[in-house]
Amino acid sequence: MTSSNDNVKVFPTPEAVAEAARHFILRVLAAAGPERPVHIVLAGGSTPERSYALLADAPQDTWDHVHFWFGDERTVAPDHDDSNYKMAMRSLLAEINIPDERIHRMRGEDVPHEAAAAYELEIRAFVPLDADGQPVFDLILLGLGDDGHTASLFPSTAALEETSRIAVANEVPQQATTRITLTFPALNAAAYVLCLVTGEGKAKALRDVLSGEASAPPAASVQPRSGEMFWYVDKAAASMLGGS
Ligand code: 6PG
Repeated sequence: MTSSNDNVKVFPTPEAVAEAARHFILRVLAAAGPERPVHIVLAGGSTPERSYALLADAPQDTWDHVHFWFGDERTVAPDHDDSNYKMAMRSLLAEINIPDERIHRMRGEDVPHEAAAAYELEIRAFVPLDADGQPVFDLILLGLGDDGHTASLFPSTAALEETSRIAVANEVPQQATTRITLTFPALNAAAYVLCLVTGEGKAKALRDVLSGEASAPPAASVQPRSGEMFWYVDKAAASMLGGS
């Protein structure tokens, strides 16, 4: 699926993006119905934090069947300030009384390749798999780096070439670290992908990602095979897109 303009929604402010994301997420949950587990992958970084905080006021039964997963994690302990898990707990999960067994964190404190392998096994145990053995998450939330990375799929890193694994440890020399990340096969098996992008600093990356060029940065490779992808962006991030 190439990124056509009708799946790029431009909002006036970051707050408007967060409110629209909250609404989108609640619609996906409502559509899933009350009978089956629903699997949502949370994005890390700072952009989604406001959306998570706004979700915290949803009725408690909204979350009765929801399992929370992570798109990537830094190789740090869960109580480290850089932990995506810590951010999600602070802004949402601790506020909505989700039982531990429905919060599936990547164990950033463990040996990275072992943590990635364990996470892949956990995903396979809980999330329905498609014909290719990839997990069909109900919704994957993503952010976008100013270099065009998403999750921890950074430019010129090995994980970009992964064609079968669901989760891998990815060395990121430009960040002098190793990350744990879902792979493109996993991201592209999702029913819905929602990427949140705000701020002038992301304008060039967003333009390049949506350009359709072969040289487009990593996030351009998120193209759900049978699912749908949406970009919720603010005016500042959209400032280099044609027609904005
Ligand atoms: C992470 C995220 C990463 C993030 C982008 C944007 O672990 O940092 O998964 O992909 O979404 O780097 O980060 P900001 O939202 O902080 O700009």
